[in-house]
Amino acid sequence: MQQWHFLQFSLHPRHLESASAIVAEMGTRGIHEQPLKSGEVLLRAYFDPSTDICRVRRDFQALCRESAVPLAGCATGIEAEKDWLREWRRRMKPFPVGARWWISPGRDSSRATLQNRIPIWLEPQMAFGSGTHESTQLCLEVLETLPLTGTTVLDIGTGSGILAIAAAKLGAESILACDIDPAAVQVAESNLRRNRVDQRIRLFTGEADALGGRGFDVILANLDGNLIGQKLKDFGQHLKPEGRLVLSGLLGRDATRIRRSARTRNLPLTLLEDLAKGEWRCLVFCL
Ligand SMILES: C[S@@+](CC[C@H](N)C(=O)[O-])C[C@H]1O[C@@H](n2cnc3c(N)ncnc32)[C@H](O)[C@@H]1O
Repeated sequence: MQQWHFLQFSLHPRHLESASAIVAEMGTRGIHEQPLKSGEVLLRAYFDPSTDICRVRRDFQALCRESAVPLAGCATGIEAEKDWLREWRRRMKPFPVGARWWISPGRDSSRATLQNRIPIWLEPQMAFGSGTHESTQLCLEVLETLPLTGTTVLDIGTGSGILAIAAAKLGAESILACDIDPAAVQVAESNLRRNRVDQRIRLFTGEADALGGRGFDVILANLDGNLIGQKLKDFGQHLKPEGRLVLSGLLGRDATRIRRSARTRNLPLTLLEDLAKGEWRCLVFCL
């Protein structure tokens, strides 16, 4: 059986992106993240068995010091290859989100029906968007408050397709969903079919910039705070009058910066809501 070397450490979620970029640069073949009760994230990065994993650890720790990324419990080990999808299916239990959602790995909707919830059947595989992350949950909770029947929705950074599926299940008429990661688009495609909403959702690989001047009633963007900061004006230009812009994946400092930026750049965006879950924030603007 194939074996993998791994490097394991925990850190604050605000450093997740920098640490992931460092292990990616060092040639990791895959990363597994697990949120901890302490609020930190345990990260395991896998390397080929031919890699000198002790050297990887030393170099990684040095690079993290240079980039001011604090780590705890940096260790190495060997793990036999698993069937990740089977493992995920075994571990993943259906769970509720917000007042209306029931996120489930299989197509069993009996408990969702009992609880009067809307099921979303998901297999995120390697794509982001299992429904367990607070940034996704904040978007799902906002969606359930919006009058979506007959609307047009743009989902930027669709990942597993979870938000596009939710919008379709709440009655949105036409949804466009994009992601720069072709693997995520493939995963989203199979999730749309699994939820039988593929007729109303069009997927494409790429950025929302490719859309030209099209207008949407709702734009969903659960992305990185810096990217949202850069694209704020462009996102606003894709909104119809009275449209809603839902921005998630923001830490406190991002939310403050984006609120300030909308004001100081005189963007025609009015802040309607500033929601928080754990350390994540979600801003809802109206045009
Ligand atoms: C945090 S995940 C969100 C996934 C899902 N929408 C959710 O709410 O759980 C962000 C996704 O955005 C994608 N992404 C990053 N930059 C992007 C860009 N400039 N345009 C479109 N997608 C992007 C990533 O590949 C990733 O799948």
